[in-house]
Amino acid sequence: NTKHYVVDREKPDFRILDQAAAVLRQGGLVAFPTETVYGLGANGLDPGAVARIFAAKGRPADNPLILHIADVHEVNKLAARVPANAAALMAEYWPGPLTLVLARTRLVPDAVTGGLDTVAIRLPDSTVARELIRLAGVPVAAPSANTSGRPSPTTAGDVLADLAGRIELVIDAGPCGIGVESTVVDCTTPVPTLLRPGGVTLEMLIATLGEVEVDPALGGENIVPRAPGMKYTHYAPAAPMTLYEGEGGAAAAAVAGEAARLEAAGRRVGAVVSAETALLLPPTVVAAVYGIRGDLDAAAANLYTALRLFDAEPVDVILAESVSEAGLGLAVMNRLRKAAGYRIVHC
Ligand code: TXA
Ligand code: MG
Repeated sequence: NTKHYVVDREKPDFRILDQAAAVLRQGGLVAFPTETVYGLGANGLDPGAVARIFAAKGRPADNPLILHIADVHEVNKLAARVPANAAALMAEYWPGPLTLVLARTRLVPDAVTGGLDTVAIRLPDSTVARELIRLAGVPVAAPSANTSGRPSPTTAGDVLADLAGRIELVIDAGPCGIGVESTVVDCTTPVPTLLRPGGVTLEMLIATLGEVEVDPALGGENIVPRAPGMKYTHYAPAAPMTLYEGEGGAAAAAVAGEAARLEAAGRRVGAVVSAETALLLPPTVVAAVYGIRGDLDAAAANLYTALRLFDAEPVDVILAESVSEAGLGLAVMNRLRKAAGYRIVHC
């Protein structure tokens, strides 16, 4: 049975974190909050413990894990080289929602990297996460704490909905602030490459680096991405979803029109929309509102909760309204396109 411990986000009870750290050292699985989403942690230097992560999530073995550290100096044990670009990003955005892909050392088990010669490393900003890692005394391998293919968890309740009975304990510090995962940047290329948009925005990366490449696979479904996890269907809610992309009110009008048409045809319709668009929908539509239109931080913070609403309120089809790709909107749109399986209507 999975233990559920509630802690204060800023001043967590260290006796609880100590217990969780002991579970990690003994090879167990601990779900814990970060500033992005909840992570499913294991001792990142113990291949047996890492294997349990893949089993608990049903995760494909070729999808490598992020090693989470509590102190920037730990990078030198795990990474063979830290190029100047990477050092600049670390200085600017660590601790924070940024994961760097670097050449790995032999200390890093193959189970973590899926056999790649690179390793993904992140220093989280969450006090609970950092103190847990510090007390564990090892790098903590942690993917998002969801069943593979499901939306990432932003509350302890989300974690338990997917993983209750499969992990030793969950540390609950309330909802995560950012709500989408960390930005993944490959620093082994001459010009660093954005592999997954996330909490540190593309604008922020460009401000620090001057120049950033974007993995072409982020543009669509037909190119194999360089972050192995980005190729899998992801973040998907229970019913098939179509994403309506358009400027101004075009997507809103299209979603409202299609919702009315589908309901008239007897389908149960769900909608992932702004508050403004929710007002245009027939009252029988199950509306998951991600926030006021244009508030991209709110859209990120609420996106996965919105997608999980349809677990409790089953529908036949889901219609989603696009957001702008500025700031955190780029990460939100990346997740919406994947959740929709790239069923996109341009309007
Ligand atoms: O915000 C986050 O990053 C959360 C919290 C828990 O820290 N973690 C998370 O982990 O999102 P996960 O496993 O769900 O996503 C990690 C992503 C995957 O797309 C994976 O393929 C990619 O990072 N990745 C990991 N190691 C890599 C490597 N060596 N090269 C390229 N991509 C890598
Ligand atoms: Mg994940």
